[in-house]
Amino acid sequence: MRFGKEIERKIAEAAEIIKGGGVVAFPTETVYGLGANAYDEKAVKKIFELKGRPQDNPLIVHISKKQDIYLVAREVPHNAKILIREFWPGPLTLVLPKNPSIPDVVTAGLDTVAVRMPAHPIALKIIKLSGVPIAAPSANISGKPSATQPEHIKKYFGEKVFIIEGKVKIGIESTVLDMTEDIPKILRPGAITKEMIERKIGKVEVFDYIKDSIPKSPGLKYRHYAPDADLILILNRKKMIEFIAQNKELWELKGRKVAVFFFQKKPVNFEHIPNVHIFISGKNLREFAKNLFKILIEKGEKYDVMIFEGVEEKGIGLGIMNRLKKAAKIIVD
Ligand code: TXA
Ligand code: MG
Repeated sequence: MRFGKEIERKIAEAAEIIKGGGVVAFPTETVYGLGANAYDEKAVKKIFELKGRPQDNPLIVHISKKQDIYLVAREVPHNAKILIREFWPGPLTLVLPKNPSIPDVVTAGLDTVAVRMPAHPIALKIIKLSGVPIAAPSANISGKPSATQPEHIKKYFGEKVFIIEGKVKIGIESTVLDMTEDIPKILRPGAITKEMIERKIGKVEVFDYIKDSIPKSPGLKYRHYAPDADLILILNRKKMIEFIAQNKELWELKGRKVAVFFFQKKPVNFEHIPNVHIFISGKNLREFAKNLFKILIEKGEKYDVMIFEGVEEKGIGLGIMNRLKKAAKIIVD
């Protein structure tokens, strides 16, 4: 793919930074990534330092050609090959046995590695020009919502990282699927849904980070996506309206600014309450996913409390709810 001159120049510059052992922020179709040469231990360590990321939380390795999977993984089971054919390039990360050439810092010492081929043309071109697989977590401070816009990266890192700007389409991170178990397991739900995967390879399980006490994916045990405001997730609309009305005094007396996010449409006859502002999280699930981190970051700065209406945990709704539950201080069902 060809880009404008300015972007071409920035992509080339980014590739040089990666080759030189540096770190760059770049758009993918899911969220922005903070990437470094996956073979370069020192460069990868910089990512952990910048993010304040715990050492035991492994990174995803990004490639620009399907056959490069063998640079990253030791073996690729038949079902993984089917999924690669169907969903790559795209928002599906596969956990596979690790190739010894990938340093331990990338995988946090695990014998497995997470790998994906992103669909964003800018991401693909940077990887290609760098000539190496790129290890890249989401471009946020550890524990904060992922960045979907360059402004978010500037908020987190100031002028410390080189940013290539580009549009993010999906808004939540890739589906992470562990292919090393007898029954493949979704460790993190995303835009490639359980339903889509099962249509291709049969039954898969979904990791429940609340119920399954020993996390298989180290990243699952940490608090995630915490916005600056207190987030309350309420699973049904009737309860949500009651909750807001019942706590009316709290918002009024304490002067706490509240942002309320209804899914699809606002309720009719919603009583106006001072300090309480009403928004729509999205007209449909895709739009909600795309808005989610922007809302968490930008509205989180402006309000003291954010109240979200939950959605059905189906399709990409499962991915949205996974992020909201992790971000929530309180869940009301
Ligand atoms: O969409 C995405 O996946 C974005 C873009 C930049 O590609 N990246 C991203 O990376 O979300 P990160 O580091 O924020 O999330 C990676 C997740 C973490 O939950 C981590 O624990 C898990 O993948 N992971 C990485 N390697 C793993 C492994 N070997 N086994 C199990 N889980 C792994
Ligand atoms: Mg992340």
